[in-house]
Amino acid sequence: MTRPHPVILPYGMAAIAEAAALIRAGGIVAVPTETVYGLAADATNAEAVARIYAAKGRPSFNPLIVHVADLAAAERIAVFDADARALAAAFWPGPLTLVLPVRSGSGIAALVTAGLETIAIRVPRHRAMQGVIAASGRPLAAPSANASGGISPTTAAHVAASLGANVPLILDDGATEAGLESTIVAGRSVLRPGPVTAEALLMHLPGGGLGPVGTSDVTERGADHRRPPTGARPSPGGRGVTAPGQLESHYAPSKALRLNAIDAERDEWLIGFGDVEGDVSLSASGDLVEAAARLFDLLHAADANDAARIAIAPIPAHGIGEAINDRLRRAAHR
Ligand code: TXA
Ligand code: MG
Repeated sequence: MTRPHPVILPYGMAAIAEAAALIRAGGIVAVPTETVYGLAADATNAEAVARIYAAKGRPSFNPLIVHVADLAAAERIAVFDADARALAAAFWPGPLTLVLPVRSGSGIAALVTAGLETIAIRVPRHRAMQGVIAASGRPLAAPSANASGGISPTTAAHVAASLGANVPLILDDGATEAGLESTIVAGRSVLRPGPVTAEALLMHLPGGGLGPVGTSDVTERGADHRRPPTGARPSPGGRGVTAPGQLESHYAPSKALRLNAIDAERDEWLIGFGDVEGDVSLSASGDLVEAAARLFDLLHAADANDAARIAIAPIPAHGIGEAINDRLRRAAHR
């Protein structure tokens, strides 16, 4: 039975219990993490995972991130090397996803990895996602809880607006902290920049050295994920990274978005940063972490208001600014 609107339950024992019961029954639930809201299902249940793709309207099977309680649980699913252990020790629980060889007999549904020999896995820090993992006793596959190609949700309201009755239950625990999807690392390559910056990764990799960043991120709108993306590269660690297809347009508002804007042109709503005041600001003080946390919320707001087009101020490319610029380039591409 589909209900006309998703049920939104505030974080608490009752909400965790209901979410876990739904997961164990093969259903899907929207759950916040420290990055964005995820659309979670039992990663060991292929039908449940298929419901994620159906709810999002994802046109092809693009592999999903698996969320587990801790490193021990991750090691039962994926094969760790010294680098991966060092990164897990430094950043888990937290917004870092590791792409690692999947362990045979892990029980993870093939649909989760889209048939790849690697798996994307992370230990989230958020109490709600951790609560649902513990109460359901399952590893949870969870992409961002938005309709395919849309902007990632940082609030329960975003999820409801994007997925509507396609998601039966949303666990509401307020706005997410980081506001950007997790950093994805394969070997020593950053597949998707995120809250864990390249500088931070480097500090924890024995001997230093990080591959180039950000060209192997993957699509929500389709494309054949088995075709290596332009710029795909083997990891310097020697393990080949079979990255799914890349699509430029992602995280997309429905309106045109102009980058590096200093002033608003006619019909534009300007999102400012630092000295560029704008109609609204990502961070008046020029704080990149604050800007990351507000980015998707302001893109949602920009999409919903009366202005015909969106413009956004230049964002410095250092630290988490790299991830912000990555998302903006994708959002502007059409
Ligand atoms: O912060 C996050 O990572 C959020 C929260 C919910 O955890 N999740 C998220 O999932 O952003 P999603 O599905 O929107 O993005 C997952 C990315 C996709 O680009 C996917 O192609 C990539 O991870 N990915 C998954 N498995 C992979 C693999 N084996 N190799 C390379 N890329 C992979
Ligand atoms: Mg997504």
